[in-house]
Amino acid sequence: LVDTPRFHPDNIAPARPGLWRYRAFLPLADDAHLVSMGEGWTPLIASELAGRRCWLKLDHLFPTGSYKDRGATALISRVRELGIRRVVEDSSGNAGSAIAAYCALAGIRCRVLVPAHTSPAKLAQIRLYGADLQLVPGSREATAQAVLAEAQSTYYASHSWNPLFLQGTKTVAYEVCEQLGWRAPDALVLPVGNGTLLLGAAIGLGELLEAGVIAHLPRLVAVQAAACAPLARRFAGQAEENDAAPEPTLAEGIAIAEPVRGGQILEAVRRSGGTFLTVAEDELKQALHTAARRGLLVEPTAAAALAGLRQYLATSDDTCVVAVVTGHGLKAADKLLDLEELR
Ligand SMILES: Cc1ncc(COP(=O)(O)O)c(C=O)c1O
Repeated sequence: LVDTPRFHPDNIAPARPGLWRYRAFLPLADDAHLVSMGEGWTPLIASELAGRRCWLKLDHLFPTGSYKDRGATALISRVRELGIRRVVEDSSGNAGSAIAAYCALAGIRCRVLVPAHTSPAKLAQIRLYGADLQLVPGSREATAQAVLAEAQSTYYASHSWNPLFLQGTKTVAYEVCEQLGWRAPDALVLPVGNGTLLLGAAIGLGELLEAGVIAHLPRLVAVQAAACAPLARRFAGQAEENDAAPEPTLAEGIAIAEPVRGGQILEAVRRSGGTFLTVAEDELKQALHTAARRGLLVEPTAAAALAGLRQYLATSDDTCVVAVVTGHGLKAADKLLDLEELR
């Protein structure tokens, strides 16, 4: 990684659009190759859930409709800087959309592998951005396996493995703390699959703590779907060999049975004094409705975090709790139309 200075608010460039106000802390060699649509600096709004005050970070309001643009703008900027002309990526849909969009902007050829059952709107996005889309039958793990052969000969612009992606997602932590007046929340609630949002947030928070900008680390509250909760089970100390096979879940973005950075995610949650929560499909549907009645159309994966937020607020005395809303509802319109309650 290119060296960056220690975090200091004086080095923020407020006149630059979006998350690029934090350009000084993003490890890129120069500005000539930045691939950006002015993304980031998403709203942090005060809200209320089950009679408790809370905050929502509206990261579904990115150009491609998910927080993955944080990582894609950083990673594809680096790819362009390195002079790479062709990349391959595997995804449950949103990271693939983001990588495809930023590659389109940069004029880089892009191939994206996704599970065949991915939401149609995400497939349409990837195709329209001009990527070569490959549907892989079977689970998300089958897609992760299939990409490895292609990554032998093509640059692997992986959101899960590539450290530049986490350097982009770390800006969510900067933004939340700055929007709270340079204060760390008591807890940050996030949906977790491969942990690219959680691990990025942990990097950003660690930098702010180390620089003395915030006084404590927020508890990281990692939310998984009960139907596919390998890390929540490991966190609870349940033996891996007893792991039930994952069941289908509406939360396709976090249906990750074998997270590639599982150990790092568990460590980050433990270090923060945080916890894991699991949410049932009914809770997730309820959260979709609650969010929509407040004008927030979110996809089921994002609703998982809101269902987790409800659980957390019911048991914790924390007064400043932020949940990240990670994906736009229009990305999963088919699933929303299928909800029993709307028929
Ligand atoms: C909307 C949404 N939220 C959260 C996540 C979880 O991200 P991660 O796999 O980085 O933990 C994803 C991943 O695809 C997603 O699409």
